[in-house]
Amino acid sequence: MKLSFSDPSLPKSGSIAILATQERRLGPVGSDLDQRTGGMLARAMAAARFAGKPGEVLSVFPPAELDLERILIVGIGPADKIDDRALQEAGGTAYASLARSTEAAILVDLPEIPALKPEAAAAEIAFGARLRSYRFDKYRTKEKKEDRPSLKKLTLHTAGHQAAKKLMARLDAVAEGVFLTRDLVSEPANILYPETLADRCRELAELGVEVDVLDEKRMKKLGMGALLGVAQGSARPPRLVTMTWKGAPDAADARPVAFVGKGVTFDTGGISIKPAQGMEEMKWDMAGAGAVVGLMRTLAGRKAKANVVGVVGLVENMPSATAQRPGDIVTSMSGQTIEVLNTDAEGRLVLADALTYTHRTFQPRMVIDVATLTGAIIIALGTEYGGLFSNDDELAGRLLEAGRLTGEKLWRMPIADTLDKAINSDAADVKNISGDRNAGSSVGAAFVKRFVEDGTAWAHLDIAGVVWSKKDAPITPKGGTGYGVRLLDRFVADTCEA
Ligand code: BES
Ligand code: MN
Ligand code: ZN
Repeated sequence: MKLSFSDPSLPKSGSIAILATQERRLGPVGSDLDQRTGGMLARAMAAARFAGKPGEVLSVFPPAELDLERILIVGIGPADKIDDRALQEAGGTAYASLARSTEAAILVDLPEIPALKPEAAAAEIAFGARLRSYRFDKYRTKEKKEDRPSLKKLTLHTAGHQAAKKLMARLDAVAEGVFLTRDLVSEPANILYPETLADRCRELAELGVEVDVLDEKRMKKLGMGALLGVAQGSARPPRLVTMTWKGAPDAADARPVAFVGKGVTFDTGGISIKPAQGMEEMKWDMAGAGAVVGLMRTLAGRKAKANVVGVVGLVENMPSATAQRPGDIVTSMSGQTIEVLNTDAEGRLVLADALTYTHRTFQPRMVIDVATLTGAIIIALGTEYGGLFSNDDELAGRLLEAGRLTGEKLWRMPIADTLDKAINSDAADVKNISGDRNAGSSVGAAFVKRFVEDGTAWAHLDIAGVVWSKKDAPITPKGGTGYGVRLLDRFVADTCEA
């Protein structure tokens, strides 16, 4: 879909969406239209009890004297609560209602709200429409044309349309990253496995990202026994990919911020095998890595002024004659030995070596790992919030704030000292489960923490509940959500580029 910006006039043809606040107020162009039609819009809103709440849409058939196809009134909520998020959601909701038109426009015609710049509002609305327009339909060969969205061009009518276009360029880079993450998360595991996911990372070189792909041989040499132990059950060889973006001005602190993603391209559980019911969902057990790859794409796409590395550990967790067994002891790259008591707690093993490699190779000033690590985080937080664990209050605060601003929300969770003790092993330095069901997500975090070097600010995002959605939301169609890209892009912009 092509998005364009034009002056704030009423289009002559096609379908249009106008916005109304929860006070049922329209902007100047909308009010003018209402007057010219003898108060038709106001009457329609009253008759339908349309209140202007977020998500509300009212379809009005245009009077004969206008050549318009349809008029949609889209609610945006109370005037004093209109922020980027509300604008994006209104854009997404408008898009969903306009998707079956051929020609459509959104009138960015908000009632006078001093804090709101029309060009910025227009860009955020367009961004929301763009995010909602995503589809993963490459394998749907029989879908009829009339069932597919037909909208090829969406025009935003706004004051300051040239400025809006400029603002949109940055948001387009964010959307590209989100779409890449959604694509990766949606691909089935027969298509997307460590080697092919590494190939997708390599494509970022075109944007100026330095990409290094480690194969099994190099990982063996480095002593990555934890990651390799997970990989050994699969016929698909593992990969570890680093993606380096150097965008900081020369004088700035050169040490990068590192993002480390769990990329289990399929998680059967291994010998500690998962039940059949729902196992197909484990194709998205690489969503942490997916978020990191999408983030790097966004940062490079908008030429972020920061030094950032993305590291992804890519493996497939399979049961087989060569798979690791419960009770196996492996030696991680850090030198710590790990007793693998449950082969389904594999993500932490992958992160362990990916983290050590990241520390030693890049000496990052802070490290944030991103992983679909535990089912327990879904029990604790559901599908709205990702879990945040951190050894640094300042870092945690900034991540929470980025989550609030983008709507990719986080909730801070604790790591009790007793849980760290609970993963001491009788046979090795550490074991990969605690042995009881208590605070499963915190146990996972406590394990990962053992592979973070002292003195480094670290955060762990357990995103198992938020990367896949079973129903449509205003700016995320059901399926892969692309969670993490907008959050971490905002974090980089506000912490490293400000
Ligand atoms: N990938 C799973 C976590 C997961 C489970 C994500 C369900 C989404 C939905 C992870 O590798 C895993 O299996 N974790 C185990 C840990 C347990 C064995 C300590 C879990 O959560 O059950
Ligand atoms: Mn698992
Ligand atoms: Zn897993």
